[in-house]
Amino acid sequence: MARLLFIVIFCLFLLTFQKGGNALTVTYNVTNRDPNSAGGIRFTNEVGLNYTKQTLANSTNFIWAIFQQTVDADKRLYTTLNCFVENTTNGYIAYTVGNEIHLGTSYIQSYSGNIKTELTGIIFHEATHVWQWFGNSSTPGGLIEGIADYVRLKAGYAVSNWAQNGQGSRWDEGYSVTARFLDYCNGLRNGFVAELNKKMRTGYSNNFFVELLGKTPEQLFTDYKANYKTA
Ligand SMILES: *[C@@H]1O[C@H](CO)[C@@H](O)[C@H](O)[C@H]1NC(C)=O
Ligand SMILES: *[C@@H]1O[C@H](CO)[C@@H](O)[C@H](O)[C@H]1NC(C)=O
Ligand SMILES: *[C@@H]1O[C@H](CO)[C@@H](O)[C@H](O)[C@H]1NC(C)=O
Ligand SMILES: *[C@@H]1O[C@H](CO)[C@@H](O)[C@H](O)[C@H]1NC(C)=O
Ligand SMILES: *[C@@H]1O[C@H](CO)[C@@H](O)[C@H](O)[C@H]1NC(C)=O
Repeated sequence: MARLLFIVIFCLFLLTFQKGGNALTVTYNVTNRDPNSAGGIRFTNEVGLNYTKQTLANSTNFIWAIFQQTVDADKRLYTTLNCFVENTTNGYIAYTVGNEIHLGTSYIQSYSGNIKTELTGIIFHEATHVWQWFGNSSTPGGLIEGIADYVRLKAGYAVSNWAQNGQGSRWDEGYSVTARFLDYCNGLRNGFVAELNKKMRTGYSNNFFVELLGKTPEQLFTDYKANYKTA
């Protein structure tokens, strides 16, 4: 009996350990540092701390799924994600440093559409910066921003002023141009963006595109443009 109890407890221990090993627990912390400004008040009335916290959690899970990161060993190991609603330097819309997302109150104030939807899209983009790999700082900035907008696109938060499929002049132009190009690449090889991100853990090379798709990013961008010209 004692032995059985021991075995049961041991199995529970293993289960708990396994769970801890495969499901990083993140604490989401949202602070409104500018609550009395027009933007800070609009944030409270139309978005709110709870909704933002939930969106941070949802976007994190969505990003891990897009990146096919099912075990902690594949992930960036942040256990806290801090988000500040504040009067950002130079009125920046939003930016991210490490595990800290900053959302600007002057943008929140001036935005003319549905600010809740817009901030949700922005959070999917910024949260991607928290969780993506940067190739030991050698990845082109346009690719970093393109991956973040690719996630926003796949989450259903692309906006109407974005580049359309086939638009743009360079694969690493960034943001929506690169996002739509990556979507085309991912269509050629399902999971391409996840594999590219995995390769970017310790360094970066344009040759990653060749390894995964057999062509340079320049060649692929030419194909991509041609694909949407004839479509
Ligand atoms: C959450 O944010 C508050 C306010 O900035 C800070 O005092 C606190 O330490 C943060 N909590 C964590 C777990 O980082
Ligand atoms: C936010 O969530 C907390 C904890 O779940 C809850 O106590 C609080 O009432 C919520 N606030 C709003 C405005 O929904
Ligand atoms: C987060 O995801 C859950 C489950 O899909 C959904 O019910 C909830 O509305 C989402 N919350 C936000 C803020 O998007
Ligand atoms: C935001 O900060 C700038 C300086 O960085 C300042 O001029 C401006 O008044 C601030 N806005 C608010 C609403 O506090
Ligand atoms: C990252 O880059 C730095 C500076 O170029 C270099 O010293 C370091 O060895 C690199 N680390 C890896 C893991 O490649």
